[in-house]
Amino acid sequence: MAPERERGTGTDSDSDSDSEYGFEPGCGSESERPNVHRAFDALADEYDRKGDEKPANAHLERPATRSLVPDVDGARVLDAGCGAGHLTRELVDRGAAVVGLDASAEMLAYARERVPEAVLCRADLGRELPFAEGSFDGVVSSLAFHYVRDWGRLFRNLRRILEPGGWLVFSMQHPHADFEEYDDTENYHDVERVSAVWDSFGTAVAVPAYRRPLSAVFSPALETGFRLERLVEPTPTEAYRRKSPERYEYERTHPNFLCLRFSRPESESTDG
Ligand SMILES: C[S@@+](CC[C@H](N)C(=O)[O-])C[C@H]1O[C@@H](n2cnc3c(N)ncnc32)[C@H](O)[C@@H]1O
Repeated sequence: MAPERERGTGTDSDSDSDSEYGFEPGCGSESERPNVHRAFDALADEYDRKGDEKPANAHLERPATRSLVPDVDGARVLDAGCGAGHLTRELVDRGAAVVGLDASAEMLAYARERVPEAVLCRADLGRELPFAEGSFDGVVSSLAFHYVRDWGRLFRNLRRILEPGGWLVFSMQHPHADFEEYDDTENYHDVERVSAVWDSFGTAVAVPAYRRPLSAVFSPALETGFRLERLVEPTPTEAYRRKSPERYEYERTHPNFLCLRFSRPESESTDG
């Protein structure tokens, strides 16, 4: 879900942990460290109910992300950070065989109800992914990568599990918006741990994330051997304007998200 960020909210102290979650990939046991998956556990119920109607998601980010996804009929697709399964549902309806991966057990419970046809897996995108080499024709990830600190490791993992010729579509919070809107930013050029309170879901929940400069978005992907194919800075649709005219004007003139498509070339020289 798109955050409605508030100022003065940096609360998470786990800034140097190697893993975001403290549990092993493949649904292993979990440590007691409070972290981002707990935030999404707390948000899961509202996220499940509002995921198809929140203007920032339904009429801004998701249409742009969707526009970058190629024909998936018969394709093996990983939905990385699938949340309550809204996009997973769309991919299955378009004929894909989908694996949904998420760190939040609560989110996955909703995804299981929404998309019983999908294989669902609890794992951490910040660690080794529990899939064999070349398992997928495509990976799609909507608004999940900015919770992972080390994108070098993330892209090496994604490259490994993609077939040569495979595609990677993902969306993220826009680096410009992050730098402007998070209160706890210090240096644009750093990858920084930040936090914002999401209060549009009833209960206020502090959600930690990592903001990064544009160079730290592209460099890890390109250095891993991915090729950039398309880039979209989404603007709101007409449906957004009808639903939320005041916010529409802001979204029309300020960047909120960045949506990208990369491919893993058929033949490549980079080792990972
Ligand atoms: C903003 S929600 C987006 C959910 C879904 N992609 C959508 O667009 O509706 C972010 C999701 O990423 C998951 N997530 C965050 N960090 C993750 C990580 N390191 N590994 C796996 N999932 C993660 C959260 O649990 C949450 O479900």
